[in-house]
Amino acid sequence: MELIPAAVEAFSEKYTTQESALMHQLNRETHLKVELPHMLSGQVQGQFLSMVSHMIRPTRILELGTYTGYSAICLAAGLTAGGLLHTVDINEELETLCQQYFEASGNAHRIKMHIGKAADIIIQLDEVFDLVFIDADKAGYEHYYDLVWDKLRPGGFILADNVLYHGQVLAPEAEQGRQAKAMIRFCEKVLADDRAEQVLLTIRDGLLMIRKK
Ligand SMILES: C[S@@+](CC[C@H](N)C(=O)[O-])C[C@H]1O[C@@H](n2cnc3c(N)ncnc32)[C@H](O)[C@@H]1O
Repeated sequence: MELIPAAVEAFSEKYTTQESALMHQLNRETHLKVELPHMLSGQVQGQFLSMVSHMIRPTRILELGTYTGYSAICLAAGLTAGGLLHTVDINEELETLCQQYFEASGNAHRIKMHIGKAADIIIQLDEVFDLVFIDADKAGYEHYYDLVWDKLRPGGFILADNVLYHGQVLAPEAEQGRQAKAMIRFCEKVLADDRAEQVLLTIRDGLLMIRKK
């Protein structure tokens, strides 16, 4: 399902800061060489993540789901001096490409990539996060929310991607796939959580922005 009309998307892309040459190259290389390139955040969402990071000025960021590193580079842009972004992906084949682009971004020293299952890595991290970006397997979102909650500082933010799941969340239940159902369960869980306030942004595939009260 087309969530955002193509003309609106094009208008949004036109009036959003353009990708740097490096991010354009990463976008192109991902499309040419890596499976499922639609997973990459892209220009508008990438710029939004960078803006959020610049607004918060985080010292610690956690990202679940690195893929080819596009969103990690955008998020790392707003880190304070001495800040660090931990990013986790289960797919070790992505690591070399990610590291190459982290180096080229000039922020490799602020990005630590972990290879493994998100749930296993989260519990190993002894950190207090200002910002968490959840963008790994959709079935895991509820669990990741529970695992990161106590590691998120009061006033900290969680951004969860793909909560509209290509519009499938709007389809009759019988036509929803497993992932769309997981996104609805996740949104319901956050909605019922008095410790949080949230806004669902209809950017790209839907971003749920959550603040820990
Ligand atoms: C949607 S992509 C991430 C896109 C990236 N954040 C961006 O915006 O460019 C999801 C990634 O999650 C990873 N993934 C899937 N299941 C995972 C798990 N259990 N733990 C960690 N990473 C996982 C996949 O290998 C994939 O690279």
